[in-house]
Amino acid sequence: MSSDSDTEMAEPTAVQQRHRDAAAEVLPAHTDLYIGGEFVPAAATETFETTDPTTGAVLTDVARGRRADVDRAVEAAWEAFDETWVDYSAGQRQRVLTAIADTIETHADELAQLETLDNGKPVSEAAADVQGAAEQFRYFAGIVRENPGETMTDSQRQAQVIKEPYGVVGQIIPWNFPLMMASWKLAPALAAGNCTVLKPAEQTPLSALRLAELIGDIVPDGVVNIVPGYGDEAGAAVANHDDIRKLAFTGSTAVGKQVMKSAADTVTDVTLELGGKSPIVVFPDTDVQTAVSLVAAAIFYNTGECCEAGSRLFVHEEIADEVLDGLVAAVDDMTIGDPLDDATDLGPKVSRAQVNRTLDYLKRAQKDGGEFLTGGGQPDDEALADGCYVEPTLIDGLSHDAAAAQEEIFGPVLTVFRWDDYDEMIELANDVEYGLAGGVITEDISQANKTARDIEAGYIWINSYHDLAPGLPFGGYKQSGIGRELSAETLDHYRQTKTINLSL
Ligand code: NAI
Ligand code: MG
Repeated sequence: MSSDSDTEMAEPTAVQQRHRDAAAEVLPAHTDLYIGGEFVPAAATETFETTDPTTGAVLTDVARGRRADVDRAVEAAWEAFDETWVDYSAGQRQRVLTAIADTIETHADELAQLETLDNGKPVSEAAADVQGAAEQFRYFAGIVRENPGETMTDSQRQAQVIKEPYGVVGQIIPWNFPLMMASWKLAPALAAGNCTVLKPAEQTPLSALRLAELIGDIVPDGVVNIVPGYGDEAGAAVANHDDIRKLAFTGSTAVGKQVMKSAADTVTDVTLELGGKSPIVVFPDTDVQTAVSLVAAAIFYNTGECCEAGSRLFVHEEIADEVLDGLVAAVDDMTIGDPLDDATDLGPKVSRAQVNRTLDYLKRAQKDGGEFLTGGGQPDDEALADGCYVEPTLIDGLSHDAAAAQEEIFGPVLTVFRWDDYDEMIELANDVEYGLAGGVITEDISQANKTARDIEAGYIWINSYHDLAPGLPFGGYKQSGIGRELSAETLDHYRQTKTINLSL
């Protein structure tokens, strides 16, 4: 018997079987491009594979969009805008957004499982994402009628200043919160009256395609178009398309810069939600257990694959040993395993490439003099060998200018710094090119407010972390981005201003 047939006949493990069963139940029926309200193959009829990072198995083939496909999608979007969507009243758009939220909630369990299969996140966290996605459509449904303008009248003129949609927008999203990122982009774009071409990440295209299936009867054809594909193919085609009037991108700072450069060629407005290396500051008056829980959640939620992750801990010397001991114990208590299991706290990373990237940072950290208080590699557990797992890791003793302290690792890796001089600590907290978020943990509210103002970042949590409520603007300072999501301000990113000056 050849070794090939041995492999074929090998009994699947319990985890493999469970993932196959789940895939049979929740994979979308259509994995082609979604253009003009129909699923259509890519012009070049090519596909790419998306895999399950827990088992390494291929989940399905997905149409590989390229420039010709993006062209078709943009054309369909303009046709839908000119012929249909532009005539929808705010109230009609509100109904569409509400119906999308309802359908997401109706299919919540299925969407959460699909997200877990494609991305590897614990299903409890995927369920929270799905809820967050529905909330996003509800929030923008709620403010869709808000489109205030201004008037100006004097002896010469009576003028109005109004806001109009761009028409067709291009949106590129990452793999860490696939469905939620789709909702963060689609909801405000539609609320403001635009049609869109959305490119999901190549690692996780399935939940956006399933969403397309679910909203086919709700959204007029061509208003939402989904073109999966690679970044340098479909992504680049969206980023420098002549007929796209506004671009919104979430992903790495490196690609964000490229998108911004492409946008310059067509003088297209851009909003960018990029990387982070956020500080979390612990004061000595804090209850140790509270600090431990908050810091652990700040770094380990979603396997550290969060742009806002609290990845640099600044803990006051007085309680540093206790907090770090507590964190090591918290890591010991974490359940690392099958993300389809409700009890799992930490699943695999999204891909082998991401595992290797994280491991490279760990090696560099060690070379730079860092000491692992816990973790430092892949878990030594046969049962996890097929998956893209990385151990939760705490690194002590690094100089703040080391790569692992400066660059976004995007894994379950926390770098630890002790402080006793406030001004020096703040200087270090701000000494990175990013400025997305920050955390402050103390019972002294005046101190917390001062520190919140001292940290150069777009979003600061005091005594919590990761809590994002629609209505509260989210976005970065410095190289973490341009523009704000989740808020009324977001609608203005999807509208342009027109002055109508009537001569008296
Ligand atoms: P990426 O920035 O390459 O991917 C994000 C999206 O951009 C994907 O849809 C991708 O296909 C697209 N893209 C890639 N190249 C493009 C191009 N030339 N033109 C237009 N679109 C393009 O991120 P990647 O490589 O998957 O991850 C690398 C690192 O980026 C991560 O380790 C993490 O540090 C950071 N990242 C940050 C995210 C955030 O939410 N801030 C999300 C994803 C990644
Ligand atoms: Mg995948």
